[in-house]
Amino acid sequence: MIPKETVDKIIDAARVEEVVGEFITLKKRGANFLGLCPFHGEKSPSFTVSAVKGIYKCFGCGKAGNSVNFIMDHLQLSYPEALRWLAKKYSIEIIEREITPEEKERNTERDSLMIVMQYAQRYFTDKMLNSDEGRSIGLGYFQERGLRNDIIEKFQLGYSLEARRAFSEDAVKAGYMPKYLVKTGMSILSNTFTEGNEITVKDIFDRYAGRVMFPIQDDGGRVVAFGGRTLSSDKKTAKYINSPETDIYNKSKILYGLWLGKKSIQNKDCCYLVEGYMDVIAMHQAGVENVVASSGTSLTVEQIKSIHRFTNNIIVLYDGDDAGQKASNRAIPLLLEEGMNVKLLMFPNNDDPDSFSRKVTIDEFQNYIVANAQDFLIFKAKKITGETKNDPIKRAGVIKDIVESISLIPDNIIRSIYIKDCANIMEIEESILQLEVNKIRRKITSKNKTSVDPEVYQGPHPDDIPQEFTPEVKQEKEPLNFDAEEKELLRIMLTHGNILITIDAEDEHQEKHDLEITLAEFILFELWRDEISFENPIHQTVLDEYIKELSEQRLPNLQHFSMSQDPIISSFVINHVMNNYELSEKWAHFGVYVSTEISNIKKSSQHLLFSLKEKKLNHYISLKQELLKTCTPDETQGILQEILHLTTLKSRVNKLLGRIVVK
Ligand code: UTP
Ligand code: MN
Repeated sequence: MIPKETVDKIIDAARVEEVVGEFITLKKRGANFLGLCPFHGEKSPSFTVSAVKGIYKCFGCGKAGNSVNFIMDHLQLSYPEALRWLAKKYSIEIIEREITPEEKERNTERDSLMIVMQYAQRYFTDKMLNSDEGRSIGLGYFQERGLRNDIIEKFQLGYSLEARRAFSEDAVKAGYMPKYLVKTGMSILSNTFTEGNEITVKDIFDRYAGRVMFPIQDDGGRVVAFGGRTLSSDKKTAKYINSPETDIYNKSKILYGLWLGKKSIQNKDCCYLVEGYMDVIAMHQAGVENVVASSGTSLTVEQIKSIHRFTNNIIVLYDGDDAGQKASNRAIPLLLEEGMNVKLLMFPNNDDPDSFSRKVTIDEFQNYIVANAQDFLIFKAKKITGETKNDPIKRAGVIKDIVESISLIPDNIIRSIYIKDCANIMEIEESILQLEVNKIRRKITSKNKTSVDPEVYQGPHPDDIPQEFTPEVKQEKEPLNFDAEEKELLRIMLTHGNILITIDAEDEHQEKHDLEITLAEFILFELWRDEISFENPIHQTVLDEYIKELSEQRLPNLQHFSMSQDPIISSFVINHVMNNYELSEKWAHFGVYVSTEISNIKKSSQHLLFSLKEKKLNHYISLKQELLKTCTPDETQGILQEILHLTTLKSRVNKLLGRIVVK
């Protein structure tokens, strides 16, 4: 368990723009920062971070929260895990108190898998550096391939001993449960194991025996998988074995090199996409860090989106061989469709980045990749100027190809620039190219029509439609809805609860006099007097926390609530209180809104309380009326009397609603 003081320290240190900025590129917009939302696919940024308020909000998908929520959501971590992650980032030491056996048990399975992977990575590195076999075979292999020691260390490379059970046995000895070794894919169940029994060390053997090990990290730098390369040249053994899909390793999401490369991708505003582990590593050794590989699978849309969070520009460096061509033919349309600007880079003589980097100096390498990256579409269009120029069939083939690629680009302006440029290069009419592209675009958009594609929908954002224009059908069907009043009362308490107001009070001699109390006390008193609790459980949770704060003699402050460990409370405050508050802050800029809100605040609080009470009374009256339909004749009289009483109360409240006296 992390002690409370440490939690506070972490939360204080974790500036939201810095934390979010680790994962997505943020651009300053006025008082806020803007970027592409990591939680939903989007091509134009609607993800806003407010440094002043310490929160983020996406106006596209509605996700909102503070720095801790962001890490929880983005890295799929629990609350304490997220705090630990942040503590590490800000070098805050956590002296945890001893965890109880129950807490230990509650440690999630994901935790256990992560811990196994961390152990495995350290184990393989240790064996590579500190065993004879590891040094001569594992380390020897990497050195033979020209890797410097600092690079071997940076990529946490390792070696898995040849003995078939070396890792599994040592891991069990070190206290790791065989079932987790299997679940992470580090060990394999032997066929002597019978289903239903508990897995023991005898039932498992190593997946990677005798291979050099490349740990694969997630965005947060945690090892979630391995690639293991064989050292034998036997064609029958798979060159690389990769971890299977597990609870912590989602192949279609993870990109090799992203953790180490994202800063550079962000700074250089461009990302190199290569085929293999060794390519990524070789580029780092050559001083180029903005590089990723989609290890072991073909590039997926999810992987593209995770690159797109940092940059629009991608340079594809696939091999010139058949496999490389196929891979780039699959990847490039997806990249265009996601709105990336795609360039191609090829090395002479079918070299890949790894082999090429070993033939040239670092400077030559860097100069080469800068000078030789070509825009993908322009490169294609240029094909027509060569031998194809006088071959009408080949010409038509290239044009068709280009048209298909241009049609994939989602942005209208970029599309039309390409149409113009490619038409020029290919020496055909721009209008013809435009016409062909339009044909395909229409097919694409009509295919998407069935589901509303937010990228195609050009109308106003639902949140931008003023409230009075939204049809209130729901309201009619459900008169029993206190949400608006409850929400607004909470908002007022959270933003202005500490201001003092003057009310009429009677002393013990029934003499009237003025009394100063806080607005929060006033509202709470009114609620308490009529035994009103909030219908919406979320609102009640926030209210309970508010009362708890007051009872512990603390002035409720917004930060306390937005940083609450209870996600119900923090997300309510961030979504409903801070957003509206933002509006009033904007107005405050012009010197109007806040002062009027404060001067009217007692009046509007009273108004809200009365309207809440009126609604409640209406609700009780209709309940009684329902009862009237089904009750026995002797009960009728009593119920009628209750209705009468409620109606009298209601008319009193109504009168008060009409003329509220403000001191
Ligand atoms: P390559 O065969 O091009 O390997 O596969 P490489 O990266 O150049 O490796 P070296 O230089 O021979 O050591 C490219 C990528 O495809 C995946 C790996 O991610 C590899 O890095 N791959 C390849 C596999 O997953 N399994 C295989 O059997 C082969
Ligand atoms: Mn290679």
